[in-house]
Parts: sequence; C-alpha cells; structure tokens
Amino acid sequence: MIRDIVMDPDPRLRMLCAPVLGVDAELIGDMFETMYGAMGRGLAAPQVGVMSRVFVMDATWKAGEASPMAFVNPEILWRSAEVQVNEEGCLSIPDRPVLVTRPARIEVMWLSESGAQRRGAFEGFEAACICHEMDHLDGVLILDHEAAA
Ligand code: NI
Repeated sequence: MIRDIVMDPDPRLRMLCAPVLGVDAELIGDMFETMYGAMGRGLAAPQVGVMSRVFVMDATWKAGEASPMAFVNPEILWRSAEVQVNEEGCLSIPDRPVLVTRPARIEVMWLSESGAQRRGAFEGFEAACICHEMDHLDGVLILDHEAAA
C-alpha cells in the first residue's frame, strides 16, 4: 500500500528514530511501493511517519535493473576519508536539490528484511544514498548540508 510521504517542514522529519525490535515486513513492503511510486531510489521510515530505524533503497531500478534492499537498525562501521560530492534530491523536499559531501566508501551493518544480520561495503551512489537515508533516521536533511557543500 502506498503511504503518504511526510513533507518538510513536518517536525517528524527532525526526530531521532528508535531501533526496532522486530522486522515489520508490511512496513517495508509499503515503503518500497511508496518509493517506487514516487520515483525515488531511497526512502526512510520517518518519511512515511514511522519513527523507526528502517530504510529502503534501490539504487539501480531507474536504469532498468531492480536491486531492492531493506536496512533495519543500520549502523555505519567505517567511513573513508576520501569524499564524494553529489547533487541529492529528497522525496520530502521536492524540486530542491542540494550539493552534499559524503564519504566515498562506507562499511555498514544492518538487519535484512528477513531479519538476517548483514554487513557490506558500498561506494559511489549507493554509499551516498545510504548516508542520506541514515541522516533521515537522525532527523538530518540535505538542507542541513547546504552550507557545508
Ligand atoms: Ni531524503
């Protein structure tokens, strides 16, 4: 089911999200549907009004190959000193792209949609997207990066 996307400046986008105890498959399914429906490549739970440390990402579907990934209770274990700068958009802040500096590579630990412990290394757009969605879980938006970019 497609859920309503919470728009800036809704205060829910500024809250710290709580770790979840169990994986909510219905929420994750709805988040994918909502993300694809809005032509996005990432969506965090607070963007549908759920204050949990959950996000979904599909970095490649717009290029014709789907790669859906759900991240529950994600943690960034390592960030490269090397950075990348990309123009980022956000479904909660339409038509307002911002240049954001992010680590070029990261290592992440999370629970998958099936509740399995996962660990992986990411680079390029995927790394930037994960950092963007992790920011959402801490109430941080791309607007906050604007001055630093
Ligand atoms: Ni966003």
